[in-house]
Amino acid sequence: MEKTNIGKNIFVYPMPVTLLGTKHGETANFMALGWLSRVNGNPPLLVASVNKAHLTNQLLKENKTFSINYPTEDMIGKVDYCGLVSGRKEDKSQLFTIEYGEMEDVPLIKECPLSLECKLVDVYEMPTHNLFIGEIIASYADEKILTRGKPDMSKLKPLLLTMPDNNYWTVKEKVGKAWDIGRGLRK
Ligand SMILES: Cc1cc2nc3c(=O)[nH]c(=O)nc-3n(C[C@H](O)[C@H](O)[C@H](O)COP(=O)(O)O)c2cc1C
Repeated sequence: MEKTNIGKNIFVYPMPVTLLGTKHGETANFMALGWLSRVNGNPPLLVASVNKAHLTNQLLKENKTFSINYPTEDMIGKVDYCGLVSGRKEDKSQLFTIEYGEMEDVPLIKECPLSLECKLVDVYEMPTHNLFIGEIIASYADEKILTRGKPDMSKLKPLLLTMPDNNYWTVKEKVGKAWDIGRGLRK
């Protein structure tokens, strides 16, 4: 093999950069979250991996509800801050305009063009993290990021993360239609 073995500290590429929101007393807390994935079709389930030391971990277990918010490129500084500073030390709720959808205890970020409302359905134990399985109850999008009612990446311009180089990226362009472009190879 000509490839170089670069070890075990490797990641799923690229990761989304999102803000996980939870109720925190009378206000809200937001943490940067890259370890997020959709894990079931129906019901629509996702998994968020959150370190046991984070305030968010405790709040998720207490509230059993949360939001996933997709920030825009210009929010990069605030997003990074939410990943650097704990809600135990500073109030991060003041960074954003908070609004609510169907669930009154799920803080959503108005400035984020796409937000998901989730109900916690399960928690799995990992050595350093917990896997929080959430059911997506509703999703809210700004009209301007939709094409025929669906989120359009060229309009949403989601932020992406790579590790271990720790960089933020944006999506460049669409290169093909999924579940379609390979049809020609069918026997
Ligand atoms: C871009 C970025 C992505 C992050 N992704 C995760 C993640 O997926 N899981 C995690 O446990 N921590 C992640 N973190 C770290 C937390 O966001 C950070 O420790 C935060 O301060 C925790 O806040 P809290 O204590 O208010 O919950 C990330 C940080 C950054 C900068």
